[in-house]
Amino acid sequence: ETQPRMPVIYLNLQECTCCLESFIRSAHPMMEDLLFNMISLEYQETLSVAAGDAVEQARRDVIRDYPGQYLVIVEGSIPVADGGIYTTIGGHSAEDILLETARDAIAVIAFGSCATNTCVQGAYPNPTDARRVREIVRNVPVIDVPGCPPIAEVITGTIVHILTFGTIPELTNLGRPKAFYNHRIHDTCQRRAFFDAGMFVEKFDDYGHKHGWCLYKVGCKGPTTYNACGVIQWNNGVSWPVQSGHPCMGCSEDNWYNDHTPFYER
Ligand code: SF4
Ligand code: SF4
Ligand code: F3S
Repeated sequence: ETQPRMPVIYLNLQECTCCLESFIRSAHPMMEDLLFNMISLEYQETLSVAAGDAVEQARRDVIRDYPGQYLVIVEGSIPVADGGIYTTIGGHSAEDILLETARDAIAVIAFGSCATNTCVQGAYPNPTDARRVREIVRNVPVIDVPGCPPIAEVITGTIVHILTFGTIPELTNLGRPKAFYNHRIHDTCQRRAFFDAGMFVEKFDDYGHKHGWCLYKVGCKGPTTYNACGVIQWNNGVSWPVQSGHPCMGCSEDNWYNDHTPFYER
């Protein structure tokens, strides 16, 4: 509370903006508390009041005035095919904007599966040659926060760790915050007892589905997916995909669109 609020630049590159939709629903900390008391969000396409040249200048002002003191969040992949024409902002390619913005950052948080593993854009045949953030940014630490989208509290918890301790959180061998990505969905799933007992949903709407049995045979990727969905849950702990009756699609894993389709088969 005695420190100046940390400047944050949030870039939207090749993405769908649902990671931001998740971000603004953080309950711990409340999004209002994060925005008004903890960080100074200087640039965000959807939330910024300014637009056009004014907001682009605000981004450059942060880079110039706060070298080594600002944080960058990136939502979206970076398309590099055909000179980067598939995502441009103000006449500049996503790659150029990212390189310019990350240059003097404390760290870059690659937020969401588009940014961490190229998600749907990177699915075969990857027509835009989409790249993940850590393929482009090499001069500062990159923290991967995967998920399509990630849970709000996972990104805000990562930011609060940096604000509180002045260091990036401990990461897994894949570069993800260990506090959130160290366990499989399968390890904390409330349907796990049914898996262990061999009681499986055979098709949607059957007796087992209506009674909360395991979704493994209708495509659940929980046994090979590392994320905190079953623990933290969504919308302030209301529910999560598997609780609501949908198999985990493994949205936080590398190459998931290619490796996990068709989604409803094993
Ligand atoms: Fe949208 Fe998913 Fe990409 Fe986030 S990771 S921007 S939710 S497609
Ligand atoms: Fe594992 Fe999925 Fe079955 Fe849950 S529903 S126990 S995550 S296979
Ligand atoms: Fe994604 Fe599976 Fe969680 S699909 S949202 S990792 S339950």
